[in-house]
Amino acid sequence: MRTPIIAGNWKMYKSVKESINFANQLNEKLKSVKDREIVIAPTFLATALVVDALRFSNIQVATQDAHWENEGAFTGNISPLSLKELGVKFVILGHSEKRQYDNETDERVNRKLKNVLKDGLKAIVCVGETLQEREAGKTEKVVETQVSGCFEGIGLGDLSNIVIAYEPVWAIGTGKNATPEQANEVHAFIRSLIAKKYNAEAAGNIRIQYGGSVKPENIKQLMAQPDIDGALVGGASLKVESFEALVKF
Ligand code: 13P
Repeated sequence: MRTPIIAGNWKMYKSVKESINFANQLNEKLKSVKDREIVIAPTFLATALVVDALRFSNIQVATQDAHWENEGAFTGNISPLSLKELGVKFVILGHSEKRQYDNETDERVNRKLKNVLKDGLKAIVCVGETLQEREAGKTEKVVETQVSGCFEGIGLGDLSNIVIAYEPVWAIGTGKNATPEQANEVHAFIRSLIAKKYNAEAAGNIRIQYGGSVKPENIKQLMAQPDIDGALVGGASLKVESFEALVKF
């Protein structure tokens, strides 16, 4: 009922040339895939050329951020309207690395989310706790605060254009993934938050991806969980064979 969605977040990896080359290879390997959504998020500089390379493919392109305004005196920022013009389909918002290194906050994610949706783009909204927060028993509290802040003022009608990514910070790039049961527990909790804020139908429809050391070796077990609808993958999305295996889990 919920179409699986597998996304590769390339972070600040791959030169522009490498990105195009990689996109062409993926296109070849993944063109027969029909029953799931495939998304890749290259660096901003590679975005336009990667979109071109994938224009007639089943792979959608995302960016790793976008601004909360479409234009203005915001030196160094990226307008989602320009992304839309290029053919970008998704914007990743609130990634823990943006929160950690670029002072991203729930309030800013909320503003960006509203703008991105207004421009006709879809969003992947990331939430997740740190190791310290998990060990202090605060996982649910942290995730609840993030969901409530990021979704402030977002209407029911917009939910079909939003995917949530649960990425426990302690599992990102560390090789330590949450067990499928640990991940599913938080996914089910997030779904209950959506049910409370919106309704049961919306909660049943929204897709929640897991992210954090997802690899070809563990994706099957993760995807077998009832509340895990996809994966947001960093490291293992950077090699053609490995991303192919992830998509075809
Ligand atoms: P890794 O798959 O490298 O742990 O990264 C996860 C991530 O941050 C995806 O957005």
